[in-house]
Amino acid sequence: MKRLFAVIGDPIGHSMSPVMHNDLFAFYQIDAYYLPFQVKPDDLEAAVKGLRALGAGGFNVTVPHKQRIIPYLDEVDELAQAIGAVNTVVSDGGKLIGYNTDGPGFLTGLASCLPTVKGKKILIIGAGGAARAIYFTLAKEQPLAIDIANRSVDKAGSLIEDCPYIADSNAYSLGEADTLIHEYDLIVQTTSIGMAPKIAEQPLNVTALKAGAAVCDIIYNPLETKFLHQAKTNGAAIQNGIDMFVFQGALAFEKWVNIMPDVDRMRENVLKQLGGASC
Ligand code: ATR
Repeated sequence: MKRLFAVIGDPIGHSMSPVMHNDLFAFYQIDAYYLPFQVKPDDLEAAVKGLRALGAGGFNVTVPHKQRIIPYLDEVDELAQAIGAVNTVVSDGGKLIGYNTDGPGFLTGLASCLPTVKGKKILIIGAGGAARAIYFTLAKEQPLAIDIANRSVDKAGSLIEDCPYIADSNAYSLGEADTLIHEYDLIVQTTSIGMAPKIAEQPLNVTALKAGAAVCDIIYNPLETKFLHQAKTNGAAIQNGIDMFVFQGALAFEKWVNIMPDVDRMRENVLKQLGGASC
């Protein structure tokens, strides 16, 4: 019987995951389909029960359900528990287990731009859900330090307090971080600043960069934000948000069917969905 996989979120219409995963199922000749379901926050518990009753093999969870789904699962892995958010659920013989592949997806994708974060000084811009997943994941990789810059410094401070994996972290305002930019080996932009249609905006300047610095933006529309363009012009190795998106999907796929899929194929597919643009 065909196996069911899904993504639940609200809104869900623009998700690129169904086309990406259905292409993989066809390519690897797996008898399964992946469907998007729009689930209102009040219907989340019922939706999880429904997916359980239908025998879904697994599903992705996106905004606004990543935190609130946790009580409805049978088990949550250590990293997802620490992050406090789940984006991937695996049904293990009916037992629903929650994982977070957003942070690991970012880290795996980063390897082509920066081979290791061990011993590196890192700045994360933003303190929302995406920043949280990336911060907790990078913090486990023995970096020298990870600072967080955010519009509300308090929110950056509470994120740092929550993280069990790292001692050396400071919370800064965006203005403070602007003056410290030359200190960092890796800078990761996680806010929505610079996303289409507001492409003229950027959170801070990346002109006085350290030699050899890597700069990432998790935005993929546009493929090169003003922030990334400035970093590139100033000598940085840059990476946009495509890799994080593709690798979070690849790691979810691997958990569901035990095959690490062809990420180049996935990237091509996503770029096609975005309208054929390239970096
Ligand atoms: P996500 O889950 O996608 O990370 P989020 O939880 O809404 O989204 O977090 C958005 C992040 O972008 C936050 O760090 C937010 O800053 P605040 O914590 O101060 O709200 C940041 N952000 C969004 N719009 C911003 C703007 N115009 N200027 C500065 N920061 C902004």
